[in-house]
Amino acid sequence: MLLLLMGMFVARSVSHTITTLEVPLWADPRREAELRCLYIRQQHDPPLHSVKWYRDMHEIFRYTPQELETRAFNSTGISVTNSSCDPRACVITVRPERGTAKYTCEVSSEGPRFAVDKRSANMTLAVLPEYDPLITGLPTLVQVGEQALVNCTSDYSLPAATIDWFVDSEPQEDPLITAETTVSGADGDGLRASWRTLHVYPDDYPTHRGYLALRCRATVATRPPHVRSMSVRLYVASRPHISSYMFSKNNAVASSSSRFRLETTVWTLLFFVRRQVPSLVK
Ligand SMILES: *[C@@H]1O[C@H](CO)[C@@H](O)[C@H](O)[C@H]1NC(C)=O
Ligand SMILES: *[C@@H]1O[C@H](CO)[C@@H](O)[C@H](O)[C@H]1NC(C)=O
Ligand SMILES: *[C@@H]1O[C@H](CO)[C@@H](O)[C@H](O)[C@H]1NC(C)=O
Ligand SMILES: *[C@@H]1O[C@H](CO)[C@@H](O)[C@H](O)[C@H]1NC(C)=O
Repeated sequence: MLLLLMGMFVARSVSHTITTLEVPLWADPRREAELRCLYIRQQHDPPLHSVKWYRDMHEIFRYTPQELETRAFNSTGISVTNSSCDPRACVITVRPERGTAKYTCEVSSEGPRFAVDKRSANMTLAVLPEYDPLITGLPTLVQVGEQALVNCTSDYSLPAATIDWFVDSEPQEDPLITAETTVSGADGDGLRASWRTLHVYPDDYPTHRGYLALRCRATVATRPPHVRSMSVRLYVASRPHISSYMFSKNNAVASSSSRFRLETTVWTLLFFVRRQVPSLVK
């Protein structure tokens, strides 16, 4: 009879229960990420035995309240930079690594059963671009019969952006018109810039209004995707021999489009200044 009662007591004593696991879905490798695990002790539960954090299959941190101890395991290359644990919550900060990793919080109660509750969540590195993509090489004016070659460069991001070009809202897929997206080498934090060139033949767009609307779209494949765009006008000259009326109109168009080229130049300068200054400071 006594054994039966003890058996019932043991069967009813479950583990601490994890109520909340907070792991950021996306993490910036340049900053520490905070992981939070909250748990409750049910009536009849034995005291907390330990809280363990895992990155994939590797234990990275352990809190054992009975021994008043916390331990970080640096062998897997991940560094736990701070921690704050008590009988209700265990919060650690980690320096995130490349790619996607599964973080698990595992809470166990004291014996006799050392019952365990655990929960996992994935964290993926991502850095969104700070700036809109930049269009360079835009001519002041392109003559009918000529072609223009423009270049679009995305800001550094993780993962690298893919770039798409649109002319008058039409996506440009033809490999003769757009090269593939090219990706730069990684900077110290693993971020990369991308660029893609576009050949525009105004003859292919006979209905243009004196200009073609060019749009460059940079997409970072987070979920949901992060999209940034830049739009410019490519001014197209009509054939000068058609009439002097057309010619004077072109001059007006040309002066307004030179403002665009000035803007592009300023943007290019800003872009290079931004990239150069940190390395000068170091
Ligand atoms: C783990 O690495 C962090 C940062 O590099 C360091 O502060 C900490 O002391 C290390 N912990 C152990 C147990 O080596
Ligand atoms: C570590 O965490 C504690 C509690 O959250 C906080 O007060 C402290 O400033 C943190 N230390 C560092 C070096 O981040
Ligand atoms: C984490 O990602 C892996 C691989 O994409 C997936 O199989 C797994 O279900 C994810 N786990 C969680 C807890 O979302
Ligand atoms: C496009 O721009 C990138 C950098 O922004 C540069 O490396 C590349 O050479 C340029 N391509 C052309 C065809 O101008």
